[in-house]
Amino acid sequence: MRRRDLVRMAALFPAAAWLPRVAASRDPARSMPLPPPSDDEAYWAEVRRQFLVMDGIFMNTGTYGACPKPVLDALDAHEHAFETVFHQLPFDAHALRGQLAALVGAPPETLAFTRNTTEGMNAVARGLDLQAGDEILLTTQEHVGGRCCWELVAARHGLVLTQFAPPVPAADEDALFDAWTSHVGPKTKVLSIQHVFFSTGAIQPVRRLAAWARERGVITVVDGAHPPGMLALDIQDLGCDFYASSPHKWLLAPKGCGFLYISPGWIDRLWPLIASGGWDDLSLKADRFDHVGTRNDSLLVGFQAAVAFHDAIGTERIEGRSRGLATRLDAGLRTVPQVRMVSPSNPDIRSAMVSFEVEGKTGTEMQQRLWAMGPVRTRHVGEDNLDYTRLSTHIYNTPDEVDRVVGMVGEIAKS
Ligand SMILES: Cc1ncc(COP(=O)(O)O)c(C=O)c1O
Repeated sequence: MRRRDLVRMAALFPAAAWLPRVAASRDPARSMPLPPPSDDEAYWAEVRRQFLVMDGIFMNTGTYGACPKPVLDALDAHEHAFETVFHQLPFDAHALRGQLAALVGAPPETLAFTRNTTEGMNAVARGLDLQAGDEILLTTQEHVGGRCCWELVAARHGLVLTQFAPPVPAADEDALFDAWTSHVGPKTKVLSIQHVFFSTGAIQPVRRLAAWARERGVITVVDGAHPPGMLALDIQDLGCDFYASSPHKWLLAPKGCGFLYISPGWIDRLWPLIASGGWDDLSLKADRFDHVGTRNDSLLVGFQAAVAFHDAIGTERIEGRSRGLATRLDAGLRTVPQVRMVSPSNPDIRSAMVSFEVEGKTGTEMQQRLWAMGPVRTRHVGEDNLDYTRLSTHIYNTPDEVDRVVGMVGEIAKS
């Protein structure tokens, strides 16, 4: 790393000075020059120092990300000030909406704040006027947070839930696209699509599916729990009807921060999940869905700091780093003879989550032994009779950690 960049990093990250500087970096005239490429270890070591997860190898961002210190500081400062009553700090929901909109590629007035993906998916499933006999199509590898909302409305209103097994490992986008379209029938009203599979990390061709579905009058609801903070995202360009997400995962926001995108065509038509003042005031747009009673604005202040933290590093760099580490992990794991990868070998559809099975070992055993050896924090994917070990790679992980984990998997596999 060049000295100039180190000085810039030092200026950017000291806790107290960090937030105003990052906020200032939104102004293009004052924005930072691009930091160095995503394989500059000195740069990433400086970034890593902004996190508390240092005592082990944290590879479960897919469940929840580790908040960086500036996010925790912003959250704490706001919460403490709030409780003083007389010295409360402002929170500007309008500003957060604008910053988030720029990051995820959606008009601000289409974004409602939720607690998480589960809430967003429920808001859609329960807010649509579906009729008995209407079919909802999903795969057999849905996360409960994106599936149970459909089970509930199906049980209550007589809808039909159809699940199909996705290709594993998926060869390419076409294989995933064909799997979906070959299961659509005359009664299909909704495709409920994970943008990135929680089970294998495969990235689905949402844009193509949404265009295909739109032509047939089929609604697309995207469980986008993972992409924000992991992949470059342009939700409006995806063309889906709804997109629910959990920025507390890859965007490293505080737990309990979510958002729901409601496309312009639906913003006045979706029934709100929770009704309070203004629930029927269509001029409020997405804000109509945010009137949910008292909530903890400090979390949203932390969310805003997380967006600023992300922007200060840059989406391209973060995606390059986290997917780059996943590629290294994938390549390493493929050298272990007992390993069977279930994540795609095709880097175009491989995200920053990599999943695999090990011959002769259960996923639970892998999880326990990696914890005992590392400790490595992993996710055992045991849903729906799957038995995968899932590893997530984010900007606080290092190539060295990746190599060590590959070594540990090799040792366990041989034992
Ligand atoms: C694909 C997917 N959808 C939904 C969820 C639920 O997320 P949350 O608990 O934040 O609602 C998860 C959580 O891991 C997930 O991986």
